[in-house]
Parts: sequence; structure tokens; C-alpha cells
Amino acid sequence: MDWGMKNRLAQLIQRDGRAMFLPIDHGYFQGPTTRLEEPGKTIQPLLPYVDAIMLTRGILRSCVDPTNTKPVILRVSGGTSMARKDELSHEGITTSAREVVRLNASAVSMSIFVGSEREHETLLNLSNLVNECEEYDIPVMAVTAVGTELGKRDARYLALASRIAAELGARVVKTYYCGEGFEKVVHGCPVPIVIAGGPKVDSEFEVFSWVYDALQKGAIGVNLGRNVWQHDYPVAMAKAIRAIIHENATPKEAQTVFEETKSGEKKRPAARKAAARRSAQH
Ligand code: 5RP
Repeated sequence: MDWGMKNRLAQLIQRDGRAMFLPIDHGYFQGPTTRLEEPGKTIQPLLPYVDAIMLTRGILRSCVDPTNTKPVILRVSGGTSMARKDELSHEGITTSAREVVRLNASAVSMSIFVGSEREHETLLNLSNLVNECEEYDIPVMAVTAVGTELGKRDARYLALASRIAAELGARVVKTYYCGEGFEKVVHGCPVPIVIAGGPKVDSEFEVFSWVYDALQKGAIGVNLGRNVWQHDYPVAMAKAIRAIIHENATPKEAQTVFEETKSGEKKRPAARKAAARRSAQH
């Protein structure tokens, strides 16, 4: 591995071997997702607690101050929308490596849809992206996406998709936590794994428990969005999850961090119901 690749990976994966990424790329197919209507405002209080942000070039250019020094993971796949839910897997690569370099991104990410009608295309998208980005020492993070088929997220499926992503050259894999059998997902994937959170759940303790268990089973951290920034107390969520990842806090200890932070944080105004329903569908 050359210096550029090592350096970029070191920006993302911290010295303790762990990572906390904050994805705000959801609008690339969902539009103005609940509580991400103004991404710049959503992330501003959260930036101190995360190791990197994941987003598209459009949101980076229009909503993030260029003096930002948090590493950027650029989402470079797209071309679909929730208006055609059955075709969410029909993605292409939307951003060139030259653009990635110009934006000074530390990594790129794109989705693969294993088991979907477009499996072949998305896997070739990944391979071609790896070919292009490795030329510039830019790591590729593959996202094992399931579209609206959330039920697919069991250990067997996630192990298959994660391993294929690594075989095709992804340097990091983002997959889902699945509880039982998650250790097999990690064991079968030779590159670091981070977990997404999926649609927002009601209990923050549940989120802390997923994150904690995923780390015990070998994940290096999270790429977790909605369960942080759709929460009424996003800063408290970010701080609590950070404590699990970088301070080895247990779910109970994280809950204490959450409660302590929450008491000093202003509750976010209520989310609009229709938009919240839309963002819970993938
Ligand atoms: C959107 C993504 C997200 O980055 C990923 O799903 C993580 O976000 P969340 O925790 O909200 O699921 O890839 O397509």
C-alpha cells in the first residue's frame, strides 16, 4: 500500500482502529429527507463528534464550509429515486476520480445491490470505480445496499454481499448489523466493516446495543445516519455512540452519556410525518 492510500485510510480509521462516520447522503435518492432538509445545519453541531462525513458532491459544495477539516467520504453512485422504488438498484457512477481529487475527498463510497436484478451492473460499477480510484490512492467504501427490501438483512446475505465487495477491491465495507451471526459477516470479510443504522428506531438504547455488539463481533465502527440526526437529541446520540466506539463504553454507560448530554441540549422541533415515513422505507 502506498503512502497516499495509507494516509487517507488513517484519516478515516483512527489510531485505536475504530471509526465513526456520519452519512448525510440520503438525499441522493430520497430528496429532502426528514431533518436533513438543510444538511449544513444538521451536521454543524455533530461535526466535533464524528471522524468523517459521507455525502454527495452537491451537498458538499453547497452546504459544507470549505474550511471544514473533517475527512469527506464522497458518495459517487446514484441515478435513481424513491419515485421509482422498484428500480433503486439501477445506479451508475456519478462522479469522476478527477472530481474526487478536486474536492479533496479522503474516500469514495458507492452501493452494490447483491441479489437484485442489477447485481451485475452494480458489481462492475464497483470494480471499475476501484480500478479508477486505486490509480490515485483513493479508498473505496462499498455499501451493501438492499433498497426497500429491508428483510434481506440477515447474516447469510450480508456475509455474501460484504465478501463480494472486498473481493472486488473495496477497502472498507459498510453493511448492516444483523445480531445473530454478525460475527460470521465480519469473519468472512477481509477488510474493515462499519455498520449502518437503517431507519430510525424508537429506543436509543437499542442503537447503543447494536453498536456495542457489532464492535464486540469485529466491526470497526459505524456509518450511521438517521438514528443520530433524526433523533430529537442528535448531539446526545453522537456523543453516546462515540463513547462506545472510542472509549469502549457499554450500552449502559452510553445511555448515561446520552442522558447527561440530553439535559443540556435543546430538543429539535417535531419532524413532518409524511417525510418521516418516506425516509423509513429503506
Ligand atoms: C444511504 C446510505 C447511508 O449512508 C446508510 O444507509 C447509513 O445511513 P443510515 O444509518 O441512516 O441507514 O448508504 O443510501
